[in-house]
Order: sequence, then C-alpha cells, then structure tokens
Amino acid sequence: MSAGLRKKAVDALTQAEAEKELKNLAAEIAEHDVAYHREDAPTISDADYDALTRRNTEIEKRFPKLIRADSPSKKVGAAVASGFKKVKHVTPMLSLDNLFSEDDVTDFDARIRRFLKLGADEVIEFTAEPKIDGLSFSARYENGKLTVVATRGDGVEGEDITANIRTIKKGLPEKLVSADLLGQVPKLLEVRGEVYMTKSDFMAMNEAQAKKGGKIFANPRNAAAGSLRQLDTKITAERPLKLFAYAAGAVEGIEWATHWEFLGQLKAWGFPVNTDSKLCKSVKDLVKAYRDLEGRRAKLEYDIDGIVYKINRIDWQKRLGFVSRSPRWAAAHKFPAQQAETVLEKIEIQVGRTGSLTPVARLTPVTVGGVVVSNATLHNQDEIERKDIREGDTVVIQRAGDVIPQIVEVKLDQRPKNAKKYKFPDHCPVCGSKAHREEDEAILRCTGGLFCKAQAVERLRHFVSREAFDIEGMGEKNIEEFFAEGMIKTPADLFKLEKRDTDPLRKLQNREGWGPQSVRKLFDAINARRVISLERFIYALGIRLIGQAKARLLAQHYGSFKDWRKAMMAAARGNAEANAEVQNIESFGESVKDELVAFFAEKQNLEAIDDLADQLDTIEDFVQADTTNSKIAGQTVVFTGNLATMTRSEAKAKAQSLGAKVAGSVSAKTNLVVAGPGAGSKLKEAEKLGVKVISEDDFVALIGG
Ligand code: IVH
Repeated sequence: MSAGLRKKAVDALTQAEAEKELKNLAAEIAEHDVAYHREDAPTISDADYDALTRRNTEIEKRFPKLIRADSPSKKVGAAVASGFKKVKHVTPMLSLDNLFSEDDVTDFDARIRRFLKLGADEVIEFTAEPKIDGLSFSARYENGKLTVVATRGDGVEGEDITANIRTIKKGLPEKLVSADLLGQVPKLLEVRGEVYMTKSDFMAMNEAQAKKGGKIFANPRNAAAGSLRQLDTKITAERPLKLFAYAAGAVEGIEWATHWEFLGQLKAWGFPVNTDSKLCKSVKDLVKAYRDLEGRRAKLEYDIDGIVYKINRIDWQKRLGFVSRSPRWAAAHKFPAQQAETVLEKIEIQVGRTGSLTPVARLTPVTVGGVVVSNATLHNQDEIERKDIREGDTVVIQRAGDVIPQIVEVKLDQRPKNAKKYKFPDHCPVCGSKAHREEDEAILRCTGGLFCKAQAVERLRHFVSREAFDIEGMGEKNIEEFFAEGMIKTPADLFKLEKRDTDPLRKLQNREGWGPQSVRKLFDAINARRVISLERFIYALGIRLIGQAKARLLAQHYGSFKDWRKAMMAAARGNAEANAEVQNIESFGESVKDELVAFFAEKQNLEAIDDLADQLDTIEDFVQADTTNSKIAGQTVVFTGNLATMTRSEAKAKAQSLGAKVAGSVSAKTNLVVAGPGAGSKLKEAEKLGVKVISEDDFVALIGG
C-alpha cells in the first residue's frame, strides 16, 4: 500500500484498526529499510518513506499502549549485512528528529527553552549544517590513532569498513596531530561523518557503468553506499568517494566548550569539514540559513536533503540528552523532495557519434525544485527492462543539480491498461540500418557508419569541437542546419564551402543572421585550420576509443600522417606485424587495435580521410622531443612536495619534453622521485621501495639548468 492510500485520519482510527495498521507499517518500513540500507536500492521515494514513519509516530502517539516491540520508531537503520566484521560503537549512533516547517523550528526552540528553563530573551546558539545525503560512519581514534571505522548499522553495531574508507583520498587522517594542542591527544574519540559522492562524479560513474553494462545507481547516495560497502576494497578505491566529519561519539581525555570549537578542531586535525556550516543565534537566523541553503541547493556539488541544527554549547547538549533514538539538542529541518510525478509520453532513441543508441524519456513537462523538466535519461535497454518502463506510465522523476533527471520509480498502480512493454528497436531509427549489440556491451549500435545521418552530424560536431579542429563559429546549430541543407556531409566539405560558388553558398550569405562579414569570418576560421597537427587530425576523426591521449600516442608513435595511414591500412588488411605494433602502444591492447582496424576497413571512412587530407595544406608531423642529451629519457619520474623555482606543471612539462614519463604515485616502476619540502607519503613509499630520491636543485642540475 502506498502512503497516499492511507486515507483515514489518525483521530478516526479504532483501536483494532490502529493495531492492524501499526503491524503493517512495521513490516512495510522494515522492508524499505532493508532495500535502502542493505541493498542500496530503495523502492520508494524519501518523501513517501518519511510519510510512512510519520504516520507510524502519529498512531503511536494516540495509542501508546499499542507500540510494538519491533516498532520502526525504536530502530535506526538496518541490521548488519553479512560479509563484514561487526563493530560495536562505543556510543550508539542515533538519528535525528525531523522538522518539516518553520513552525516546527519555533517549537524545537521552545522545547529546548522549557527543558533548560531559559527565558525567551536568553540567547541560544545553534550551528546550522547542510544535511549531506550519504552514508554515515563512525571512526574510532585511540590515543590519537585511527583504529576502526564502521557504518551506522542498527545504531548499536555497524559493519567494519576500515579498509574501504582508507581508500578515500583526502579522507580520514591516520593520526590526530595539531599544533595548537601542543602534542596533547585524546584517549578516545569517535568522529562521525558522512561518506558521499558529488553529483558530477555520480553522473560520470553511471555513464561509465551504462557503457559497460554495470549496475546503474538511482542517486549519489546509493552510489556512495554501494561503492563503500564492497568486500573487495579495490572496487571502492576506483570509486570517486568523499567524506565530511561533523559530530563526536564517545570522547575521553579532551573537552570542548562548543560544537563550533569542535568543528574547528576537526579541521585542524585535517578532517574535511563542510565550509557551508553557520553559527546562528536565533530561530530567525536558523530559518534564514535554511532558506539560503535551499536557494543554493541545486548549485551545491553534493546532494543534501535538509539542514541540521545543533545546540552549540556542549554543557547544554549534555543536559538535554536523548529521547529514545534521537538527541533533544539537535534536529533535521528537511527540504521538500526534488522529485515529482509526471507522465512518460514517449521513449525516443538518440544516435551518438559512434552509433550508440541511447533511450531518452520525453515527459509531460513538470517543475522539479523550480526547474521545468521534460526529458529524462533511461541509460540503456537493460535499464528499461529492469524497471519495466513503458510509454504512458506515470513515473517519479528526480533531479539533482545540473544532472539530467532520472526516473526513480514507475507508479504501477497508475499504469494505463493498454500500456505495452517497450520493445527496443533492432534497427537504427534514423537510417534504418541494423542495430548490433556487441558481447560484453550494454549498448546497441547502429551499423550504418557515415551513411547514418545522425552519426554523420554527431561526427561533424566532434570534428569542429575545441579539442579537435576547433573551428570557431561552427556551433551545433549551424552544423545541423548546414547538414540538413546538404551543404556539408563530411569534414572535407567544410573546407570546400568557400570555393563552392553554388546555390547553397549564396543561400548561406542570404540566410537570416548572416551577412557578408559573418560569412567571411567563418571562412577565415576554417582556413586557419588548413594546417593542423597530426594528433588533432587523428582525434578529430572520432574513431571509437580514440580520445585525445590515445590520438597523441598514435601521432607520437607513427610520426607522420603518411606513416600512420600506411600502418593502419596494413593492420586493416590483416598484416600480423602491423596489428601487433598498434596493440603494443602503451595502454592500447586488443580493443583499441580492433577499433582502429574496423575503422580503416571501411572504404567510406578511408575516402573521407583522404578527401579531408586533400583539402588541408599540411598535417604536421609529430615533433619528437630531442632527447639525445637527456639524462631522464625513458624514465618514470614522480614529483612530490613543494617546488621553489618552478610550478608542478612546469616541472612535469619539462620532464616530458626530455622524454620522461611523469607519474602521480610511486611504485616499483618509478625510477626517480623529486622531493621538495613538505613531501609526505610518496617520499616514504620511495624510501620503502628503494627508489632514488633527489632534491629540486639536483633535478635542475640533472636537466641541465
Ligand atoms: S549529526 C546525534 N550532522 O543525518 C547527531 N548528521 O537523520 C547525529 N547527517 O545519521 C548526526 N549531515 O547520517 C549530523 N551535518 C550533519 C549531518 C548528519 C547528514 C545524517 C547522518 C545522520 C542522519 C540523521
């Protein structure tokens, strides 16, 4: 049953009805708890979940005798999942009472005043902190050293995630050292906080997951939880996790007068602490902080679902204490959910540059968090099937910042009777060629190549983009229009535009928004690119898997357009030596080689390349660095610490120009570490591995000043 269907007012319930409903609610909420906390795959929205727990609390308030032993109001989170060691928190991890309106905030303040017997004009300081929507942790420090980290679990006992959380860069400090404490360390301290993923990292990760057919997460919270709770910490290490510290559990051998001071101490110890937290002196201040944060919510780089108010004075916190599962001295003021229901009118297929067919949901426009939304991403075929999303369905969509909205839930009870299961096309919707799904891939691709209009337009867009030919004035809109009017079909056509004294050109000069001057400017921009570097040329072709880095490596390896073309043709003809040669370039391997071979095996691709090369004045050879006198050619170098005479990027560029590889971390493959003042873990690692370490001065001498 969904929350909306529970219509009967609590006041009108009979005792028997209340008893039955409390039993149902306990079972239903427990199910959602497991889905949310243990499987990281909630089946209802946070707002609906809150409505269920609120209803439960209201019924319990009216019928206190009916409160069940397994009541959701007595529980925090979910019991420990199997596979992880259990850790008992020294002090239980509690949750927070929710406030839903500004009146609730006034009541919160009034309750505190009553409890502490404070007059109305006495100032109570509060902190107001963003309520991060992530996964909470408790990190135990004994005599200043990090010993164990656990998830919240059921509040009393959590899962041991020490190894997992240690993979987070700039995360928890291993030791509590800070100058202002003069060497003093607390005997025991539990630092609490939240592990989260930024919205942009979440989007990028989901995109990568969609490509390889991996698990797609509904939101950054689930992605963070799913990434952190991996038995294999290598997976956690690959995920872009971050954390904030914001509270203390057990404390022994140290004291603070206020929570604000405590936050400052955390910062001094090196914990990441949220800089958006504020110190407030009245309910008015709290409401202001709330409105201010809500206004900036969409722009923040992480998801928040509210703001947390905490009494600043620790002695008052102690006096106020706890009620059942939450403190009296803190509360969470929730934001309205950035979710909305709307109708999915149509599922459309978008064709990408390399032929990928991506499903997109066209929605009846609806406002979510102040923004009108009419499209949502559906990722891939598997995702549609897994959620059984159909045209005509009412769906719950969720928006986070600038992120493309996602569908989090299908309202099955509102499905039209005639809704048909969505059948993913087996042909390209634009050119009609067969769509093909490669093994190990979740994405279907149009096999039409350049013959496919959609692919051709996407490729042209890529071709003129900044990192490729960088043709100013040739935006997306122009490409689409010029293509539709038959003026350009392939990259070479761009360079033929000016010479062509034909109808399309006259059309160009006479079109709206264009005069002789703007046409001249466009032609100049195009002409300026008749000289192009080999690496840009290769990258601009838009061959699958050939991004900027690989294009550069190809250019570096083959040196000239002529030699590259010759080698690629040989590989495409099946020449074993040529194949082995490409495959062995640095990070390439078989898949990259296969893509290059497939590209050059297509006659039309080759024609397009040659046609383009004919139009250009020069494809510049790759300039190999002169490394004859270099003492570091072929070596792997790592820079660490501060450099005095040059910036890190300068040092890196210098080393690379002398034929060295620059790495970000020290490993057995490292030949040389250049360490400046302040060098830390990398220097230690180098010493451990016996890697040669030199100073900046030595480095300058080595590279010849
Ligand atoms: S303080 C006893 N501060 O919200 C105080 N919690 O619903 C315990 N949360 O379990 C928590 N941001 O997972 C606190 N700045 C913040 C927070 C925060 C997010 C989460 C945390 C907690 C839940 C309570």
